[in-house]
Amino acid sequence: MSVFVDGLLRGQVALVTGGGSGIGAGIAVRLAKQGAKVALLGRTAEKLTNIAKIIGDAGGDAMTLPCDVRQAALLDTAVSEVVQKWGRLDILVNSAAGNFLSPAAALSANGFRAVIDIDLCGTFNACRAAFPHLEKNGGNIVNITATQANIPTPLQCHAGAAKAGIEKLTRDLALEWARMKIRVNAVAPGPIEGTEGMSRLAPQGEAAETLRKRVPLGRWGTIEEICETVTFLVSPAGAYVTGTTFLVDGGTSLLGAAPFLELMV
Ligand code: NAP
Ligand code: COA
Repeated sequence: MSVFVDGLLRGQVALVTGGGSGIGAGIAVRLAKQGAKVALLGRTAEKLTNIAKIIGDAGGDAMTLPCDVRQAALLDTAVSEVVQKWGRLDILVNSAAGNFLSPAAALSANGFRAVIDIDLCGTFNACRAAFPHLEKNGGNIVNITATQANIPTPLQCHAGAAKAGIEKLTRDLALEWARMKIRVNAVAPGPIEGTEGMSRLAPQGEAAETLRKRVPLGRWGTIEEICETVTFLVSPAGAYVTGTTFLVDGGTSLLGAAPFLELMV
């Protein structure tokens, strides 16, 4: 149950990259619940259609945009489709990302580049495509990063570099676009239960339990908890917030690299 009033975002139009699953899907459903019309973007049409149906069945408006965020020209077209259909764009959430565990020395140049392309270049591509529409009425961008941006994390140098780049991009765009009343912020989730990220990256079995107990708040986070922070940022409650990265990680970052060091052995 959200602490925010339903309908808070009525009249607004949002685009969520990576909106077909996990955290992005949760955010898309939440924005729709707050009254926004929501465009879902990702590579797999079926995943997008499933989330659009959930939104539609609950009385909301959703559209699907099967697209790869690495293709800048296709993103321009996708954003134009949104504006053609609903007349405006107010909110962009960049949640599309790729990650896997790999020792740096074993990672191919293409493997490193694939993650930088999806996460960092994809985020830039979407921001750039959205800008001409966001600047008309002011608006909000929220980039989903990760604690790996700042905490040295074994086996994820590709994702860490990409997310660190996104956090810097967040601050640069926040400064450049503040005069156009576009706020640009990031949210860095910690380990969020029931997600693809956790199933790919977290240790399994007993090791997972050991890691969970080390989280200062003593548990995994939830998709709902990420949605709460995103809702705050795009709502009038966040009106004076721009250029920040909100850690929503149960205090995990306070421990630095410590919880992850076992991954190195
Ligand atoms: P997820 O369900 O796999 O979400 C990633 C989404 O991005 C998928 O829907 C995927 O759909 C889409 N995507 C991937 N490559 C794409 C591309 N080239 N173009 C367009 N869309 C693409 O994973 P998640 O765990 O919920 O992660 C969501 C976000 O939260 C990511 O930014 C991740 O880094 C961040 N995060 C997650 C955690 C966690 O604990 N899960 C922690 C920290 C940060 P398609 O494959 O169909 O394109
Ligand atoms: N370990 C090491 N390298 C890997 C890898 C792994 N587990 N998975 C992929 N790669 C490498 C590939 O070998 C390839 O490099 P190469 O050409 O030198 O062999 C490169 O990465 C690109 O792989 P490819 O499968 O062609 O990329 P893609 O663009 O189809 O997919 C990924 C991108 C690899 C990030 C894929 O995991 C993905 O689509 N992820 C999206 C979902 C996700 O990761 N969710 C969690 C978010 S936290």
